[in-house]
Amino acid sequence: TLVSDLQAVLRDVPDFPKPGIVFKDITPMLADPRLFGRVVNAMAAPFRGQHISKVVGVESRGFLLGAPIALALEAGFVPARKPGKLPYKRIVERYSLEYGADGVEMHEDAILKDERVLVVDDVLATGGTADATARLIGQLGGHIVGYSFLITLDFLDGAKRLGPDKVTSVIRY
Ligand code: PRP
Ligand code: MG
Repeated sequence: TLVSDLQAVLRDVPDFPKPGIVFKDITPMLADPRLFGRVVNAMAAPFRGQHISKVVGVESRGFLLGAPIALALEAGFVPARKPGKLPYKRIVERYSLEYGADGVEMHEDAILKDERVLVVDDVLATGGTADATARLIGQLGGHIVGYSFLITLDFLDGAKRLGPDKVTSVIRY
């Protein structure tokens, strides 16, 4: 199955980027074109036929999955970036991370009012990143149809924060 094939390649790296954090390394999955394709299909599948017009991917690992998922759904791709990276007029939201504090920015014309939006990222941990991204989309008047993650870390309860009905993921720990 897809889950067992992923379990075989996803690497746990202990104490990265900080002591106590077990980092889920997705690079072996990205390097395998068949597996990468199956992941993109699985993450897009729940949202097919749901009239998604924009997929928002969160820098940086959310870009890797969000862009091909946008193409799979025939939707546009919008990058949500770390502060100071976007060139045009932007809006910002701050959040606290499993390991630190950060912010996320989006161009003010990236989402149109009432547009149907899917948020994509590799990992849902505390939900701080995805929730800040949701607030950006809300500021622009977008409607969040759902969130698609490759991995959910259930013990951190991120889905509760986002609304469990809206969260899908391929694999949970
Ligand atoms: C990681 C991961 C998610 C986020 C999840 O990103 O890729 O974006 O943390 O954590 P949360 O649910 O507690 O907010 P990170 O900030 O490490 O940056 P990266 O994607 O650039 O590696
Ligand atoms: Mg990330």
